[in-house]
Amino acid sequence: MDGYSDFTTQGNVRFLDCHPKPADFFGEVIEGLGAARKAIPPKFFYDQEGSQLFDNICELEEYYPTRTEVKILRENLDDVIATMGQNCYVIEPGSGSCEKIRLLLDALRPKAYMPLDISKNHLLDASQRLSHDFPWLDVHAVCVDFTDQMDLPKPPQHLRRVAFFPGSSIGNFEPEDAIVFLRDLAFAVGKGGGVLIGVDLKKDHDVLHAAYNDGEGVTAAFNKNLLQRINGELSADFQIDAFAHKAFYNPKPGRIEMHLESQADQQVFVGGKAFAFASGETIHTENSYKYTVSEFQALARKASLSPVKAWTDRDGLFSVHFFDVR
Ligand SMILES: C[S@@+](CC[C@H](N)C(=O)[O-])C[C@H]1O[C@@H](n2cnc3c(N)ncnc32)[C@H](O)[C@@H]1O
Repeated sequence: MDGYSDFTTQGNVRFLDCHPKPADFFGEVIEGLGAARKAIPPKFFYDQEGSQLFDNICELEEYYPTRTEVKILRENLDDVIATMGQNCYVIEPGSGSCEKIRLLLDALRPKAYMPLDISKNHLLDASQRLSHDFPWLDVHAVCVDFTDQMDLPKPPQHLRRVAFFPGSSIGNFEPEDAIVFLRDLAFAVGKGGGVLIGVDLKKDHDVLHAAYNDGEGVTAAFNKNLLQRINGELSADFQIDAFAHKAFYNPKPGRIEMHLESQADQQVFVGGKAFAFASGETIHTENSYKYTVSEFQALARKASLSPVKAWTDRDGLFSVHFFDVR
């Protein structure tokens, strides 16, 4: 992709729609439910409702990552901005509500901002709100599955590309897939560019457990919304209440696992295909890997990224890293 000719204009925002096709969603769900250990990739959480539920999670008392990452960015703003450099073109994979970039914009004054997200309407709304609040900013929004392609339009040569990847979304990848993703991101950014990335840290297991098992049941609703979405979009008949939210820290791989656990022996149809569930069997819906600062730097080095700086909060809950692309 060389230019911006495929973009349409939506209000003040330039927009490119590469949303995955319904057939891709169907294919991945059928494959995942047909596996010996049933699993569905976490990217399918995010329809409009899923994106809204994620925003609600970010407000929860138990969910420390969002407020801690924001605090780290606020407390180290001058240093972060100086490290990112002048004349940036900022690319944000998984931009969600485009809230965290707001913290950087006034000081960074990037030449353009490219939010990438799989959740189309949420992305459009968020980018239009951003563009309204920062009218000087060129916003080039792309609805895309960032695990599929990173063939982004090329910004002018003199601009330094910096990827912003907050929210510890990198933790959703298996470590070896995280290396592949970061390598693709480094390639998209190009030599001379950088990556600013938020990574959740290893910590007390009770703190982790609480963050994914909130008292109000918002994370449970987020997890179960996946079944609702499959019912609505893929002609399925999941009985939502026949599945329970299950999230726990698995210390050996160092990750939170989220599952939907069948509460009975049952059969579910998806697009005419039958899937049997035994009582207690689960659909694995998400991993969230936790890293120490040095573990993550070692992983990033394997993806052609050179550690420049890492900032953490006083309680050692979360980290924000900057890497140069080698
Ligand atoms: C955990 S939320 C993080 C949102 C925001 N970056 C933050 O830090 O609060 C993950 C975001 O990435 C998007 N996302 C997840 N998987 C994706 C994929 N494969 N391609 C594009 N976007 C994806 C979701 O729609 C969601 O907005």
